[in-house]
Amino acid sequence: MTATTRFIEGLPKAELHLHIEGTLEPEQMFALADRNGVALPYGSVEDLRGAYDFDNLQGFLDLYYQGMRVLLEEQDFYDLTWAYLERVAKQSVLHTEIFFDPQAHTARGVAFSTVIDGLDRALRDGEARLGISSNLIMCFLRHLDQDDAMKTLGQALDHKDRIVAVGLDSSELGHPPAKFKEVFARARNAGFLAVAHAGEEGPAEYVWQALNELRVVRIDHGNRSLDDAALVRRLAAAKTPLTVCPLSNLKLAVVKDMTRHPLKDMIRRGLFVTVNSDDPAYFGGYINENYQAVQEALGLTRTQLAAVARNSFEASFLSADEKQALIARLDDYVGREGAA
Ligand code: ADE
Ligand code: ZN
Repeated sequence: MTATTRFIEGLPKAELHLHIEGTLEPEQMFALADRNGVALPYGSVEDLRGAYDFDNLQGFLDLYYQGMRVLLEEQDFYDLTWAYLERVAKQSVLHTEIFFDPQAHTARGVAFSTVIDGLDRALRDGEARLGISSNLIMCFLRHLDQDDAMKTLGQALDHKDRIVAVGLDSSELGHPPAKFKEVFARARNAGFLAVAHAGEEGPAEYVWQALNELRVVRIDHGNRSLDDAALVRRLAAAKTPLTVCPLSNLKLAVVKDMTRHPLKDMIRRGLFVTVNSDDPAYFGGYINENYQAVQEALGLTRTQLAAVARNSFEASFLSADEKQALIARLDDYVGREGAA
């Protein structure tokens, strides 16, 4: 292991773009399929992993929704979340903000409360036993209509104390943020913060819509913002965080090659960036592998890596005091380990 890999491993950080259903590893998928009597169209873990070769976002989403059919009981959602927390506890993740896709479960007959009870119980155990704090972000599936999102928001109101924000994910092209203007307004009025995937495959115009129509406080991905100089100026001036996901971008052909990943360009142009894993079971790495991949391909310095980690705490939905406490741990670490 190189000294830089070790530096990344121990670097205190927050994860802000993580779909819990995207942490379902093939081994766990097979185990849950067995436990729940669900048939999988793959003979083995190796066959399934072999299918993880995507041309674009939709190719991935088709397998992502298929895979999550094994999640049926509260304990399944607990086990999924606990497995993720145990992994990232070893990657110096101190805080995580987790997306979940309730519509992908309620459409299969799984109750909203089954999903959130399992997630929440694991997150509370994660805080108590692993020292990882967390927030939940409920995403609306943008390939469905706004009425379905409204129904889901209604279900979420019964669990309001356990959800910090609403988000927007799934197939981006052809489903602009403006399609969800009313449901986001209602969610914000109910006290939820708002984020949205935008500019992953979709144009810079979708990022503008997320900002202006949905009033989001973070942009998930945001790569295509770089096509629009006025948008870059707006994002930089407002310090709007972008939750960038390098290995996801590579696996979904948003970038051709990691050496061409725009992260360094984003930093140079003044954008407030964080590094995250998106769907680590499908994209070949958890958060530290994402830090490692951009470090190697783009030659990021320890100072730049530490700045990205600092951004992750700053951009989180923690209180000012909580942020300060975690940043103090980061500063301590960099003081000890920061010299190259
Ligand atoms: N759902 C899970 N991962 C996603 C991604 N990268 N983009 C859009 N929707 C998603
Ligand atoms: Zn995502």
